[in-house]
Amino acid sequence: LPLRDYTGVHVLVTAGPTREPLDPVRFLSNRSSGKMGYAIAERAQRRGAKVTLISGPTSLAVPPGVNVVWVETSHEMLAACQSHFQMCDLFIAAAAVSDYTPAQRAPHKLKKSERDGDIVLTLRPTPDILATLARQKGPHQVVVGFAAETENLLEHARHKLEAKQLDLIVANDVTQEGAGFEKDTNVVTLLWPDGRQEPLPLLPKSAVADRLLTAVRPLLKARPLE
Ligand code: PMT
Repeated sequence: LPLRDYTGVHVLVTAGPTREPLDPVRFLSNRSSGKMGYAIAERAQRRGAKVTLISGPTSLAVPPGVNVVWVETSHEMLAACQSHFQMCDLFIAAAAVSDYTPAQRAPHKLKKSERDGDIVLTLRPTPDILATLARQKGPHQVVVGFAAETENLLEHARHKLEAKQLDLIVANDVTQEGAGFEKDTNVVTLLWPDGRQEPLPLLPKSAVADRLLTAVRPLLKARPLE
C-alpha cells in the first residue's frame, strides 16, 4: 500500500536558483537545478500532502498535482513565500537563494566601457527568506532548512540551524562525489536542535526527499495521521 502519511498536511517548498538582475539581459545566479526541491515536492504530494512549490527558473517538469508559483529574484521568492506561509504546516527551503543582489538594476543594457580596465559591481544583501519565515512561525508550524557547504559541514550547518531557529536542517556538503547541485543523487546529514544527527548514504534525490519527510513527520504533532 502506498504511504499516505502526509494526508491533510500542507507543505510549502522552495526550489531552484534565484536570478538577480544587473540589467534587462544579465543576472547573477548559481548552479541550482531545482532537482532537490522538486523531489521533495513530488514525494510529499505522493504521500498525500497538499503541496505548493515556489520555484526559481528551472528546466524541470512540475510534478503532477503540485501547485507551482514561479519567481525569479530573491525578493519575489520572499513575497511568494510570505503569501503562502500562513497556510502551510511545513516549510522546507531547498532553494539556493542569492545572498546578494546588484544594488542597482540598469533600465537598459549596460554598455561596454570605452576605457580599458575593471568595472566594480556593488552588491546589496538580500532578505533571508528562511530566517524571516522561521521568526513568523506559529506553534503548529515546522520549518526545515538546507545548508549547502564546502567546508566544516556540520559546524556551519548547526550554526544555521540555531541562528535561524529551525526545527531541522539538511546539511549538504556540495563538494562530495554524487552530492549537491545539478546531480540526480545527494549525500546529506539531518541535524536536529537537540543535538541528534542522522547521516544518510548516497541516495537518489527522491529517496533523500522520502527520508527527510519521514524524519519530519513526527514533528507535525498537531496533525495525527488521518
Ligand atoms: O537544486 P539542485 O541542483 O538539486 O541542488 C540542490 C541544492 C544543493 C541547491 C540543495 O540541496 C541545497 O543545499 N539547498 C540550499 C542552498 C543554499 O542556498 O544554502 P545556504 O546554506 O546558502 O542557505 C541556508 C538556507 O537558507 C537554505 O535553506 C536556503 O534556502 C535559505 N536561504 C538562504 C539565503 C537567503 N537569502 N534566503 C534563504 O531562505
